[in-house]
Amino acid sequence: MINGQTRTCGIIGNPVKHTISPIIHNSLADRLGHNLVYVPFPVKEGDLEAAVKGAYALDILGMNVTVPYKSEVIKHLAEVDELAAGIGAVNTLVRTDGGYKGYNTDMSGLWRAMSGEGIRIEGEEIILIGAGGAARAVAYLCAKQGAGKVYLLNRTLEKAKLIADEVNGSFGRTVIVPMLLSDYTELPDRKFLAIQATSVGLEPHDDEVIIEDEAFYQKIHTGYDLIYKPFNTRFMKLVRAAGGQAYNGLKMLIYQGIDAYELWNDVKLNAEDVEFVYDRIKEEMGLQA
Ligand code: ATR
Repeated sequence: MINGQTRTCGIIGNPVKHTISPIIHNSLADRLGHNLVYVPFPVKEGDLEAAVKGAYALDILGMNVTVPYKSEVIKHLAEVDELAAGIGAVNTLVRTDGGYKGYNTDMSGLWRAMSGEGIRIEGEEIILIGAGGAARAVAYLCAKQGAGKVYLLNRTLEKAKLIADEVNGSFGRTVIVPMLLSDYTELPDRKFLAIQATSVGLEPHDDEVIIEDEAFYQKIHTGYDLIYKPFNTRFMKLVRAAGGQAYNGLKMLIYQGIDAYELWNDVKLNAEDVEFVYDRIKEEMGLQA
């Protein structure tokens, strides 16, 4: 029941019509008995500053930020968490005295999702595929969490090199090794954790995959696809066919929401709460194992 004490959270972006975040947060508020409502706020180009200031003035408790504003929003914040500042992208705003503080729960969420599956980054040798915004954030996360080497494979070598220079520069060590995607046969002869961070294989292109060659999948002990639609991507199937463990990005999506919810409400959610949201979202999106 919305009443005089209801707190508001929401998501700003353009577009926001297809976001599933309202389902995550409103079903959590319902379950936990919090008097909170979460709504989409479409923000037109040029209106970002007014939106952030207006949200603060309206006493909005917290915001998610999505495409295309994750980097641009930073200049309108009072403070930025260290991980988000390093990545250069913010997806969660938390109300503080004097303005919002920005966090990146996409990456803290990925980290939590991986840890929950028993997947380690520290000391690991990693293959990271892609050099877009998502891959850039994952590269930074891997370096921060103490990965061994991260072989960054991309169709356009130049973009992989830019990320490598930036991340290696930030950490003062050569952790990211940029490589041309087609040079995967030159990877060291060992098993890797592989993170798929391109859009290849995303619904409706379920049959597509970034690398077809079975020999590539022999090098993977664990494959993590950031895509969650389809629920089992072609990349995941090829990893499994070669004997590896494979995961999709749905848990990452869930945990970016869980982390934001925890930050806004100063609570810690338990494993059952996470399972509850996971099932709810799977149902909502018509996803099947
Ligand atoms: P993000 O949403 O993460 O910001 P993006 O900027 O659209 O994504 O980047 C998409 C990634 O998928 C890039 O690494 C892109 O490779 P290029 O940098 O060479 O463009 C990769 N990608 C998309 N389609 C691809 C394809 N058909 N083959 C190989 N790589 C592809």
